[in-house]
Amino acid sequence: MKILFYDTKSYDRESFDRQLANFPGIEIDYLKGDLAPKSAVMAEGYDAVCAFVSSDVGTDTLKALHAHGVHLVLMRCAGFNNVDLETAKELGIKVFRVPGYSPEAVAEHAMMLALAANRHVHKSYVKVRENDFSLGGLMGINFYQKTAGIVGTGKIGAAMARICHGFGMKVIAYDVYQNPSLDFVEYVSLDELLAQSDLISLHCPLTEENYHLISRDTIRKMKDGVILVNTSRGGLVKTDDLIEGIRARKFFAVGLDVYEEETANVFEDRSDEILEHSTTARLLSFPNVIITSHQGFFTEEALSAISQTTLENALTWEKGETSPNEVLV
Ligand code: NAI
Repeated sequence: MKILFYDTKSYDRESFDRQLANFPGIEIDYLKGDLAPKSAVMAEGYDAVCAFVSSDVGTDTLKALHAHGVHLVLMRCAGFNNVDLETAKELGIKVFRVPGYSPEAVAEHAMMLALAANRHVHKSYVKVRENDFSLGGLMGINFYQKTAGIVGTGKIGAAMARICHGFGMKVIAYDVYQNPSLDFVEYVSLDELLAQSDLISLHCPLTEENYHLISRDTIRKMKDGVILVNTSRGGLVKTDDLIEGIRARKFFAVGLDVYEEETANVFEDRSDEILEHSTTARLLSFPNVIITSHQGFFTEEALSAISQTTLENALTWEKGETSPNEVLV
């Protein structure tokens, strides 16, 4: 079975090449460019393509993949909001993902963002390097005995809830389904969560229903001085409204691992024009905002689990077996 791997980074290649020893029937060719309607033609002669959160797996790409004989899209990530599942189904292209490779990797990153933004680590790091050990502007708040509001208590949200519980926080949550393993969590409505939380952390997938879940309307319902963390998907937060809230001093701190402009590769193409119009660059101008580069998943353990499960998904498809990792419409 032949897989064409898009948007290859050196760490992807190392991790997948290491796993290939356990999958003798699979061959992988690696491309630097990402999957998009034009680059889909490269997949001629391959059974499957391997794509990522940044890939364009929309209608045109899927049609092009289908025209070139590809039957399988292997997402090497949990999220799949960039895949046009209806079109994939119509064309008979199967889509698999890696649902829970290391929830702790993302949850630990979410807590790191909350702590770093709260205690101004980004500022103190720079100050101390300049031999300035003064404390002005560095005061934070205790998390102990504060309220953490977790939106989405699946695998990552549950891991974040456990971390917050370990910090001695009261943990409340909003989800469409309640997670029975979280007996220390009190489930509340979204409005109650917004009103009560000192720290709000987003862990639900991006869907049509929750696009711009955090907007002017929901920000208004939050406590003053709230800390907001998003490690889930950029589209959950309406960036212009977040900026408005930051300007109005609604937020004590904001930590973002994901943002709306990710697919535009704002930081890889640092042309003045892009930066001038970039809402992400505007966010970076605020001293109480920390942004990381969608790196929540990026630990050794998670990468190894991603490559293993992706190749297992390929085998499952080849054998015609069913799997909970298949994404169905
Ligand atoms: P999961 O599927 O285990 O859990 C998602 C939870 O969100 C479920 O309990 C579901 O019922 C709930 N949910 C769905 N819609 C909701 C809504 N509108 N409001 C509240 N809850 C809702 O997913 P998992 O593995 O915990 O991942 C969560 C998200 O984290 C992924 O969808 C992905 O967007 C993001 N992610 C980010 C990574 C990073 O590197 N920053 C890496 C991996 C995932």
